[in-house]
Amino acid sequence: MADQSDTTGGGAPLEAIELAALEPVLVQFPKSADQLMPVLRAVQDTYGYLPPPALRAVAEHLGISWAKVYGVASFYAHFHLTPRGRHTIRVCRGTACHVRGSKRILDAVKQQLKINQGETSPDLMFSLDTVACLGTCSLAPVVMVDNQYYGRLTVDKVGSVLNMYKDAQPTLNRGVNSK
Ligand code: FES
Repeated sequence: MADQSDTTGGGAPLEAIELAALEPVLVQFPKSADQLMPVLRAVQDTYGYLPPPALRAVAEHLGISWAKVYGVASFYAHFHLTPRGRHTIRVCRGTACHVRGSKRILDAVKQQLKINQGETSPDLMFSLDTVACLGTCSLAPVVMVDNQYYGRLTVDKVGSVLNMYKDAQPTLNRGVNSK
């Protein structure tokens, strides 16, 4: 069980969490235990992750235990208990991508960002995840940054892809880049 004291779990102090932003989120949901999943999704949409102080407020709002809320939040992979980077990098490690060198791509990303999969860079710019398949196997090896696909990626191109995001605003572009 995680520490329930005054930290976010991601190193940010309690006072850094703007709980005032939570109230207009919580009032949208009935005070019922069966609202837990949609409430957690809404809270994560608000903060980008699930700060422990917000989980306590969720438990209070729904009238259920903090342990129940924490248990659900920590069980599902799409919920994050620590701050996430501004950009999420997903390196595909499925079979098609594996045979076309995705391990080398992953190693290059890890080396350049100095983080492992599942981690976020200290400047909160990037979070690095691996996935089983991005659904674009014909473009293997594939990496997804936010909602943008990069197909037929090579180790040599990893740096230029990352550099595009270091100063860029988040994008909702859903296109596929295979160049
Ligand atoms: S295995 Fe990588 S996109 Fe399908």
